[in-house]
Order: sequence, then structure tokens, then C-alpha cells
Amino acid sequence: MASRWNSRVSIIFLFCFPELLLSAVVTLDSLEIYTTHEWLTSTPTVYFKCNEEKKTVLPDVKKAHAVYHFKGEESFQPLTNFTSKKCKRCGFYEKDRIKFDDVFDEWEFCPSDFTSPNGIYIHSKDKEFNATFLCDECVKRGAVDNLDGDSHHHNEGHGVQWYIVIIVASIVGSILLMMGVFVAYKYWLKRKRQQEQARFLKLFEEEDDIEDDLGLGPLSDSI
Ligand SMILES: *[C@@H]1O[C@H](CO)[C@@H](O)[C@H](O)[C@H]1NC(C)=O
Ligand SMILES: *[C@@H]1O[C@H](CO)[C@@H](O)[C@H](O)[C@H]1NC(C)=O
Repeated sequence: MASRWNSRVSIIFLFCFPELLLSAVVTLDSLEIYTTHEWLTSTPTVYFKCNEEKKTVLPDVKKAHAVYHFKGEESFQPLTNFTSKKCKRCGFYEKDRIKFDDVFDEWEFCPSDFTSPNGIYIHSKDKEFNATFLCDECVKRGAVDNLDGDSHHHNEGHGVQWYIVIIVASIVGSILLMMGVFVAYKYWLKRKRQQEQARFLKLFEEEDDIEDDLGLGPLSDSI
């Protein structure tokens, strides 16, 4: 019961604030490098890195012109994750023992890049590499965004407004209902009092009748 309530709350929450979606995990699906930058050794050390995140070394990638496929469960996976619609500056690099590391490519990696329904995004650079990435959640989020259309932020505002309208309407409805019940109760009390008064008066009249029948006039009061 509590968990169902929680999930309902989180769905409403996500509906109102899509920017705060849970992290969307990105895995590396395949990689082929066309070149190695290292002159002295034949086996390169290739790694992936996004701005201000740690390096992800790809230990299997040793040869150029070989396509490496990944299951997404390797020890270095996931490569990164997106916590908002914001892009990250990421790249593939090769460690260099002497000078600065070599760059295969560095680019703006965005959740919106994942447009194909199977959640795949291919990024390649001539004479450098061809990489495919997987991010299912990015596609789901993209679909939601597309449903909202161009005026995404506008609609988002509407979502919040609807939420407020529903809350205000239910509060006003409750107040009206309580007022209705109160008025009905007051009316019922009034009716009841009137009925009691009528019965009381009737009782007096009956008593007067009995006294008259017994022939007891005002005299009886003085006895
Ligand atoms: C997102 O990725 C960062 C860095 O890759 C990691 O430290 C963090 O735990 C991840 N968060 C989630 C929720 O997976
Ligand atoms: C890159 O790799 C993908 C998946 O292996 C493949 O479908 C695509 O044709 C490749 N692109 C190039 C330019 O080699």
C-alpha cells in the first residue's frame, strides 16, 4: 500500500518536474578504433572520460581495425549517466607515456542524441574511431519530450497549474460540502425545536382540557 502510494507520488513528481528524472545510464555497446597514437608500444591504453568524471579505461581495446562488442555488464560499465537534459563534454583518449594524452575525439554528448527506438547512438570520427552507445532511458525521456511538443516548458507550467487547480478545487469542494452539512444540521435543529414547541403547547392544551373535565378551576391551585 505504502509503496504503491510512493510510486504514485513519484509519477506525479516526475510528471511535474521532468528535469529531475532519475539518472539515465549510458553503456558502451561497441567500439572500433581506426588508429593508435602511440609510436613506441603497439598496445594502446584507450579510455573514455567526461568532464570532471573519472577515466574509464577500456582494457580490451588493444588493436586498431577490430570491432569490440560489449554486453553492458563489464566491470567498467556504465560509462556515464545523465541526470538531466544537459549535455556533457566527453571523449575517447589514449594514454601517452611521454606527453599529454592523445585525443580520438571530444564532443558534446547529449541525452537527446539517443533518437533511435532501440536506444542506440553512433558516434564516429573519420580515421579515428566508431563507437555505439546504449541508453534506453534517454529514448523514453525523449519520447515524453516529443509528446509535449515544441512548447515543452510552456506545457510543463500547465502541468503544475493543473496540479494546483485540482488541489484548490478539492479544498473548495470540501469547504462547500462542510458548509452544506452545517446548514442542513442547523435547519434540522430548527425544525426539531419547532416541533418540540408545538408538542409542548399541545400538551398544555390537553392539560387544560383535563382540568376543565375534572371541574377543577383556579380553586385547585389554592388547595
Ligand atoms: C552516475 O555516474 C556517476 C559517475 O559515473 C556515478 O558516480 C554515480 O554513482 C552515478 N549515479 C547513478 C545514480 O548511477
Ligand atoms: C559503426 O558501427 C556500427 C555498429 O557496429 C555500424 O552499424 C556502423 O555502420 C559503423 N559506422 C561506420 C562509419 O563504420
